[in-house]
Amino acid sequence: MSDKMQIAVIGGDGTGPEVTAEALKVLAATAQKYSFLYETTDFDFGGERYLRTGETLPAGAVDELRKFDAILLGAVGHPDVKPGILEKGLLLELRFQLDQYINLRPVQLYPGVETPLAGKKTEDIDFVVVRENTEDLYCGVGGFLKKHTADEVAMQSAVYTRKGCERCIRWAFDFTQKRDNPKGKRLTLVAKTNVLTFGHDLWWRTFNDVAKDYPDVEADYNHVDACCMWMVKNPEYYDVIVTTNMFGDIITDLGAMIQGGMGVAAGGNINPDDGGTSMFEPMGGSAPKYTGLNVINPIAAISAVAMLLQQTGHETAGDNVLEAVKSVTGTKMKSQSAAKMGYSTSEVGDLVVEAL
Ligand code: IPM
Ligand code: MN
Repeated sequence: MSDKMQIAVIGGDGTGPEVTAEALKVLAATAQKYSFLYETTDFDFGGERYLRTGETLPAGAVDELRKFDAILLGAVGHPDVKPGILEKGLLLELRFQLDQYINLRPVQLYPGVETPLAGKKTEDIDFVVVRENTEDLYCGVGGFLKKHTADEVAMQSAVYTRKGCERCIRWAFDFTQKRDNPKGKRLTLVAKTNVLTFGHDLWWRTFNDVAKDYPDVEADYNHVDACCMWMVKNPEYYDVIVTTNMFGDIITDLGAMIQGGMGVAAGGNINPDDGGTSMFEPMGGSAPKYTGLNVINPIAAISAVAMLLQQTGHETAGDNVLEAVKSVTGTKMKSQSAAKMGYSTSEVGDLVVEAL
């Protein structure tokens, strides 16, 4: 890494570029405050480019992106592109090719943000999901037999490897240890060992093996269905959750809802290895109907920048961005929904910069 952090920016489709612009505004102000140097390079990947060229990622794009310290992604998804193409050809392709084996999804209710869970406060909803990001049902192993006939068979296999689950579980234990929650350090494995008696047996054995290296972390287990129940009833129970790719996808949308919606939730696709390139994104989609109206909520994209900084050696700066976000949600914004914030997209960006 040169002393100038290199960031690739994929603004993407719909409102992606608008929220990304606010995130970059906050990044610029943070860099000034903390005197670190960075440089951004724009990439026009997404639906528009696909419709123009037929390519999701042009040849050489992944190797180009690999040279960057981090990637900031706005959103991909275009009404004229068939579902699945951009997801598979861009988002999942980057996760796999750059071996971003951790999907980090904080579920935190910021001050002033409304949760649909009656009676729950900011201190009750504050946990982190560590989702494995390269295996499971996502690796595209499967096929059809007798396709388009009455006897059609479709198979889609979940692939789990010892290496794949161990590196994720180990990272999650490290993360829990460092997070140092005053309520106590607890890592909950979320799986379905009572039914998935092969794949999740591997996860369970690996989890228990790795747990021996972290005696100060409580190693805990929940079945995924029970986890959904507790996330709604007692979210305060959780500190850190580690889970498989598919279950992680599902429970993190539940998580996004209890923390106030897609306008607030951010995620990191992390390759924590030396020289690895990680990618940070707001969880909301491209919201095409709000494009260009300056009404979309940029808080998730700004939170993605906070995470980018925290994960690339600028922890204090990242923490500060998060504090600024919380002060804006807590003291300024009326709502986290598009067009109801009481401010425009760019004004919310300005407020976070001021709060810094
Ligand atoms: C997410 C998204 C993706 C996933 C989709 C867009 C492929 O839902 O990041 O959670 O399933 O992982
Ligand atoms: Mn998802």
